[in-house]
Amino acid sequence: MKGLILSGGKGTRLRPLTFTQAKQLVPVANKPVLFYGIEALVEAGIKDIGIVVGDTRDEIKAAVGDGKKWGIRIQFIEQEAPLGLAHAVKISESYLGKDSFVMYLGDNILKSGIKSLVEEFQERKPNSLILLTEVPQPQMFGVAELKEGKVVRLVEKPKKPMSNLALVGVYMFDSHVFEAVKAIKPSWRNELEITDAIQHLIDQGYDVHPHLVTGWWKDTGKIEDILEANRLILESITGQIEGSVDSTSQIKGEVIIEKDVLVRDSIIRGPAIIGAKTEITNSYIGPFTSIQDRCKIIKAEIEHSIVMEGSEIRDIGSRIDESLIGREAKIYKSPPKPSAYRLVVGDKSEIGVK
Ligand code: TTP
Repeated sequence: MKGLILSGGKGTRLRPLTFTQAKQLVPVANKPVLFYGIEALVEAGIKDIGIVVGDTRDEIKAAVGDGKKWGIRIQFIEQEAPLGLAHAVKISESYLGKDSFVMYLGDNILKSGIKSLVEEFQERKPNSLILLTEVPQPQMFGVAELKEGKVVRLVEKPKKPMSNLALVGVYMFDSHVFEAVKAIKPSWRNELEITDAIQHLIDQGYDVHPHLVTGWWKDTGKIEDILEANRLILESITGQIEGSVDSTSQIKGEVIIEKDVLVRDSIIRGPAIIGAKTEITNSYIGPFTSIQDRCKIIKAEIEHSIVMEGSEIRDIGSRIDESLIGREAKIYKSPPKPSAYRLVVGDKSEIGVK
């Protein structure tokens, strides 16, 4: 069985970050989202992964490499434009051949991984296995209708949802899916929809098996979902201190402090992670915060946030909360003073606050 990870796309919902960065490389608990997908496939025993890439191909290739670091083989498949999830499958036919495969959306994280699902697929041998989860607002997702334990209908973002079962971004197929992706036509948004391809399989009498996911699942396509994924991942970390923490600082709860970090006169309340070569001085770092490498946090308070590589936060009067701060951003004191900050800051932005 092979893996197919979709890591192209437009990423419009994550602007401005995606003007300069692939959304699949946004760090969650200091690890690119995409790596969670790769690791889930590796854990399920998959040794060959094709990664579909688009405009951000160079950055993705540089971050991922050839797969040796996970002991697997990775190949990149070029998609000339983001023409839909089923289009990504269509262009991957020569890579996938006759093998069954797991298709994994590169911006998704599934807590429980996919090992048991791959095993279920291999035992039952349906033509397709789709993952479903109950959601409060099904009209925002691809939604499935079930009858007697089988999938009978799928609709993309329905105005009147027929169930609250949304498609999770992991699917398994055998090679019959290529018949489907070749037969369907682009949707109103000019994309080949994976829901249409699966519906085609159902209509042709193929066996599409549903599997309900019980653990959490996150599509990190929006800022609030990235912060939520960050919170969920940090909840399960175990603290480890490699950097230096002076005697006037306090570390409480589970906190990972990587190499060459300097913590001075500060309080860090976990769960939190501080990346290598970061400096924290006279500051408070609250729960559910991930600070990447080479940052400087000086006389500031921050929690429930992600701060990406090389950024600086200095002399901020109020606490920064629920913020996603891009690479090499600078945030510092300047008049006048608002009492709270909620920020979505793109890479290399510079923001002055009182
Ligand atoms: P989406 O999040 O559905 O689409 P998008 O990346 O275009 O984002 P937005 O809606 O914010 O503009 O895509 C899910 C995953 O699949 C994501 O990792 C990107 C990837 N993808 C492709 O690789 N090729 C495609 O043609 C599409 C549509 C998505």
